[in-house]
Amino acid sequence: MGLLKALAVSSFLFVSSLAASASDWHSRSIYQLVTDRFALTDGSGPACNTEDRKYCGGTYRGIMNHLDYIQNMGFDAIWVSPVVSTFEGSSAYGEGYHGYWPQDLYSLNSHFGTGEDLKALAGALHKRNMYLMVDVVVNHLASKDFPPPFSSFNPFNRESDFHPRCLITDYNNQTQVEQCWLGDDKVALIDVNTEKDEIINTYNNWIKTLVGNYSVDGIRIDTVKHIRKDFWPNFASSSGVYTIGEVLHNETDYVAGYTHVLDAVLDYPTWFPLVAGFQTQFGNLSSLARVITTSQSAYKNGLFGTASFLENHDQPRFPSLTNDTARLRNAITFPFVHDGIPIVYYGQEQGYAGGPDPANREALWFSGYVQDKDLVKHIKTLNGARKAAITANSQFLSTAVRPATGHFPDLLETTLAVSKPPMLALFTNVGSSGTASWKVPKSGHSGNTQLIDVLSCTILTTNSDGGLTTNTTNGLPRVYLPVSALSASNKICINNLSTGNSAPGGAMPSLMLVGLASFVSLLM
Ligand SMILES: *[C@@H]1O[C@H](CO)[C@@H](O)[C@H](O)[C@H]1NC(C)=O
Ligand SMILES: *[C@@H]1O[C@H](CO)[C@@H](O)[C@H](O)[C@H]1NC(C)=O
Ligand SMILES: *[C@@H]1O[C@H](CO)[C@@H](O)[C@H](O)[C@H]1NC(C)=O
Ligand SMILES: *[C@@H]1O[C@H](CO)[C@@H](O)[C@H](O)[C@H]1NC(C)=O
Ligand SMILES: *[C@@H]1O[C@H](CO)[C@@H](O)[C@H](O)[C@H]1NC(C)=O
Ligand SMILES: *[C@@H]1O[C@H](CO)[C@@H](O)[C@H](O)[C@H]1NC(C)=O
Ligand SMILES: *[C@@H]1O[C@H](CO)[C@@H](O)[C@H](O)[C@H]1NC(C)=O
Repeated sequence: MGLLKALAVSSFLFVSSLAASASDWHSRSIYQLVTDRFALTDGSGPACNTEDRKYCGGTYRGIMNHLDYIQNMGFDAIWVSPVVSTFEGSSAYGEGYHGYWPQDLYSLNSHFGTGEDLKALAGALHKRNMYLMVDVVVNHLASKDFPPPFSSFNPFNRESDFHPRCLITDYNNQTQVEQCWLGDDKVALIDVNTEKDEIINTYNNWIKTLVGNYSVDGIRIDTVKHIRKDFWPNFASSSGVYTIGEVLHNETDYVAGYTHVLDAVLDYPTWFPLVAGFQTQFGNLSSLARVITTSQSAYKNGLFGTASFLENHDQPRFPSLTNDTARLRNAITFPFVHDGIPIVYYGQEQGYAGGPDPANREALWFSGYVQDKDLVKHIKTLNGARKAAITANSQFLSTAVRPATGHFPDLLETTLAVSKPPMLALFTNVGSSGTASWKVPKSGHSGNTQLIDVLSCTILTTNSDGGLTTNTTNGLPRVYLPVSALSASNKICINNLSTGNSAPGGAMPSLMLVGLASFVSLLM
């Protein structure tokens, strides 16, 4: 085809939205970034002290200039900060650099760039077959002044557009959670009256045009539990794209209700035992195993289409909780072998260790975007292994992960095995100088199958019954795929795929397993 025609076709492709549905998202992997902290348009690296809570200069153009960095790690979607304008100037909690203090829903936050810049970012992503997820805040508008200057808001600019002021004092009272105000007197998060038809219609039209104007492929919705459930189905369908909600709660039953009104939720109930399980060697991995099975039965679509994460902008980064590199590797690995869509929060790959907000929003430019680094490679391998598993088993994404823990009486279990064929992942929280042993009577593979740990490139062969036992002295996780599921095109362990370099102690006589069986809970 002629050059002009080729240009016309490709520009058509990347201007239009991919109108991505939930199932279009399932195979994806998301890189979450704080727009202000990722990259500047001119590539410079100014000072950025997180404690100042001020804009540091990141832009959409800056992101566009570093898409290779994100895509090289195997991500095929990004999640950016809320895009609409926030109040200007400094509040008692600093500036609105994070985007979560909306003031005018119909104008963009100009610190991040123009509407043309945001469209260009969407276009650049689509050209790479990557998706754009935009964060949206629906529940409230924000003000640093009190009483709030209602007339400065758009589109809700009358006091009667909001719920009367009350602060949430009892999180067990759902009416309060939905109708009282978040925030405080320093920054008021003024609760929009989402019971009114006129307001509901405005929000529904707003999300439809926001998605359309900027070719958005999916939305992450903030503070979902703060609006009544029956608000959400029409809002979600008006968006026309995949919707994933933040329901910050540790109970599966509470979160489950929201899986019926949105495509998906961020998997907070798993996040709590994930962090606690790997933070120390006394973490309870049985709690992690249990939440997997309870959420699979409680959520509308099981865990499929949820998103699994270790870090985000609201929580202390995992390395601020432990210095043990092996436990960190275990925790980072888990979301990639889970049922949901894995999300990595920018900076995780560079080992950033900021504590609670605002320390967890470090500028990425200080890292130099280095790719030749163990953690970056670790994440790239995990993305690659998940794609290889999807290719090897067409049912992979709809096969529920199954945990198997050891359940030694009176002991906290230090190992966890999870199976999602053809993937088998082994975890431990013993740490980098600990020893542990995994005993998996049913690996999900037949006898004498060669499995390769994609993280170490070590091969292990299942015993004649399809079980395996293996020990660790470095506390690192293992992610096994059958050697047959990898090829040179996956670029994973390409030097080690020839058969025959079986690791010592890999296979075990089945007789020994019989002896161990009473200590072991079988893979279901
Ligand atoms: C819940 O909060 C609302 C609003 O503050 C209040 O009217 C109601 O009495 C509370 N319900 C209970 C059971 O405490
Ligand atoms: C989308 O663009 C249309 C046409 O310019 C405009 O009327 C509408 O307000 C825009 N929507 C948003 C959310 O900015
Ligand atoms: C959730 O957190 C509350 C309050 O900290 C606690 O009482 C409850 O046991 C937790 N639930 C689970 C499932 O961990
Ligand atoms: C570990 O978690 C399991 C499952 O939730 C629970 O039954 C057990 O009591 C916990 N063990 C300890 C020591 O907390
Ligand atoms: C990690 O190591 C640093 C430096 O030794 C120390 O200051 C910090 O407290 C440690 N963090 C944890 C969570 O142990
Ligand atoms: C994988 O292959 C490389 C290069 O041939 C070799 O150095 C390394 O020892 C192999 N690793 C394992 C675990 O066999
Ligand atoms: C693993 O370690 C246990 C206990 O230290 C030991 O009894 C067992 O023989 C080891 N198994 C293998 C396969 O090395």
